[in-house]
Amino acid sequence: MEGRTVSYSRTTITELMIPAYANFGGKIHGGVLLSLMDKAAYACASKHAGTYCVTVSVDTVNFLQPVEVGELVSLKASVNYVGSSSLVVGIRVIAEDVRSATVKHTNTSYVTMVAKSEDNEKVMVPPLILEGDGDIRRFLAALKRKRLRSYAKGKMDAYRKEFKLDDGVRSILEDQRCIVSLA
Ligand SMILES: CC(C)(COP(=O)(O)OP(=O)(O)OC[C@H]1O[C@@H](n2cnc3c(N)ncnc32)[C@H](O)[C@@H]1OP(=O)(O)O)[C@@H](O)C(=O)NCCC(=O)NCCS
Repeated sequence: MEGRTVSYSRTTITELMIPAYANFGGKIHGGVLLSLMDKAAYACASKHAGTYCVTVSVDTVNFLQPVEVGELVSLKASVNYVGSSSLVVGIRVIAEDVRSATVKHTNTSYVTMVAKSEDNEKVMVPPLILEGDGDIRRFLAALKRKRLRSYAKGKMDAYRKEFKLDDGVRSILEDQRCIVSLA
């Protein structure tokens, strides 16, 4: 299977933040940005894969700064990593106030997509051609996040399986802002 470069599928989506996107506090709803991120990830992943793709997971979304009505939001998406059927798309989101010419970085997140065939079967994606230090760093960072997630999942599965309401648990809860009220 022939590889594809990162630049082949690099995608930018820009959208004006209109009043209908705002919450009661006048800032843009986080969900509006999540929806735009999903669109950008889809456009980028499906271009690399050459097939339909589905969203599997989003790796940490931290909104660092609020987005205002009237700002132009741009989402820059590129494939950072490919496995067999999965692709990790890195998305950098910036918001621009055109009147003051200021640009702020609102978040960077990583969306895992899986390539699917017409009959909903997983399909193999083309290898990613890494053309520079940046491409290599992002590929390896995605691999590291994948391994850390798998390690954390193992730990949390074991925690759930082994959970017992014993004295150790009670002493941890003593320092927390909760009230244990058992029947
Ligand atoms: C995600 C999905 C494809 C996994 O299917 P599966 O048969 O369990 O397949 P696998 O375990 O082999 O996983 C397929 C790939 O997804 C990756 N994957 C699965 N779950 C993942 C997760 N939670 N996070 C990141 N990657 C994940 C696997 O590592 C694997 O990658 P690889 O092919 O590059 O090695 C399947 O559960 C699905 O179709 N989910 C619905 C997705 C969807 O419809 N999204 C839209 C939301 S409405």
